[in-house]
Amino acid sequence: MTETIQGAEQRRNSKDKITIFDTTLRDGEQSPGASMTLNEKLQVAELLDEMGVDVIEAGFPIASNGDFEAVLEISKLLKRSVVCGLSRAQNNDIDRAGEALKPARQSRIHTFISTSPLHMKYKLQMEPSAVLEAVTSSVTRARNYTDNVEWSAEDATRTEHDFLCHCVEAAIKAGATTINIPDTVGYTVPEEYYDLIKMLIDKVPGADEVVLSTHCHNDLGLAVANSLAGVRAGARQIECTINGMGERAGNAALEEIVMGMNTRADVLPYWTEVDPVHITRASRLVSAVSGFPVQYNKAIVGQNAFAHESGIHQDGMLKNNETYEIMTPESVGLRASSLVMGKHSGRHAFKEKLKDLGYELGDNAFQEAFQRFKALADKKKQVFDEDLVALVDDEVSSENDRIKLVSLTVYAGTGGPQKATVTLDVEGTETTREAGGDGPVDATFNAIRAIVPHEARLPLYQVMAVTEGTDAQAEVMVRLEQDGFTATGRSADTDTMVASARAYISALNGLISRREKGAGQNLQVI
Ligand code: KIV
Ligand code: ZN
Repeated sequence: MTETIQGAEQRRNSKDKITIFDTTLRDGEQSPGASMTLNEKLQVAELLDEMGVDVIEAGFPIASNGDFEAVLEISKLLKRSVVCGLSRAQNNDIDRAGEALKPARQSRIHTFISTSPLHMKYKLQMEPSAVLEAVTSSVTRARNYTDNVEWSAEDATRTEHDFLCHCVEAAIKAGATTINIPDTVGYTVPEEYYDLIKMLIDKVPGADEVVLSTHCHNDLGLAVANSLAGVRAGARQIECTINGMGERAGNAALEEIVMGMNTRADVLPYWTEVDPVHITRASRLVSAVSGFPVQYNKAIVGQNAFAHESGIHQDGMLKNNETYEIMTPESVGLRASSLVMGKHSGRHAFKEKLKDLGYELGDNAFQEAFQRFKALADKKKQVFDEDLVALVDDEVSSENDRIKLVSLTVYAGTGGPQKATVTLDVEGTETTREAGGDGPVDATFNAIRAIVPHEARLPLYQVMAVTEGTDAQAEVMVRLEQDGFTATGRSADTDTMVASARAYISALNGLISRREKGAGQNLQVI
């Protein structure tokens, strides 16, 4: 395995480099219920930048004030990656994207329009000739803001080939430097997608001078296979997301693309600038801030991806890892659960450990995280890396909260009636309420609602153990939804009720801030 990677490094040349275009913050965030706060988007963008992602699609600036602000702030933040903003083929969309990208060191405007007969007739209600004109005018307008313009043919895989060729040619003539061929509805299969990309390269004048890009959705579970087929046909950019997040069944998963190329460089002789050692951290961060758990058997980042349960496999692994392991857990930044520290560990050791896990916190956040680590070490016999990750992710999301949990007492058990007494600090004022409910969680949430009245629905309440053992921390995710705004909160604690209350309060804080900023009501792209 190692030899293959080294071999690939020797073979590296620029024509085989694949541009990784991450759209977790745009297409990924479009998944129903996956909204992130500005602070969370900044954390994700910073990590993607550090990982070596080439282009980060930071949002769809016309869609909401929240999206505009996210693209603007990410533009100020990024050191290495190109920042990209999405726009439809309309002047005000493009101008808004140009405005949000102004502070960026390197920016790209990504403009798109549907080209399939179905979309043109029913969605756009435009004649093909008008769509063709919009291709030229949108790309021309985007070029006023930046030389780096990407044009996408939405629903390209269901578009008539001749018309697609005309649109691609028009976009290239108007100055697009990247042409994206989305499989918007996840309909194509590898052979067909290969032929489509090849046909465009062979037939469209100038197609060999721009970068062709794949953007594959996963409705048939083929997003990664289709993307790789597109690359074999000559595409040199892949659009993807961490954990494969995205509309419906999601997009091609970044981690699968990168590790596929790294592990099978013998048959996929392409390379990316992404350092895979950050993959596990990125997966955990995106899952934590989006509230979307990663399925246990998900390739590369699932909890079981490197677990060997059967006796035959374990025996083989003990003799030689390569018997059942095609890549090492360390290569994606996954370390074996290690007992890290106990209650006697000091600030210095804690800081070093966090650094090792990829976290560098500001002074205040560090102090608070340290206090919580001490409290955890007092309660829990063994503190593992996973515990620290859960604790720090919790800390980062709670820094700017307006509502904070002061105390919680729960009466539960077979005797009933279950009730909870909650004290909250709401912008500096402490209030206490008691409430009953159908179980301790319901009672706790009712008491919170008595202090901060609201009508939010609870579409998700989920509890998972962070590690093994009866003293494991419970990681709780709560999603709240009201008037088209959604926010997800998460928290971990050895006390499931405390974690539940904190997660609920975190979601409530998110919901309040999204409603204030009008940040939740994204325009639907498709
Ligand atoms: O799936 C799609 O077609 C898109 C476009 C906006 C690129 O996300
Ligand atoms: Zn998409």
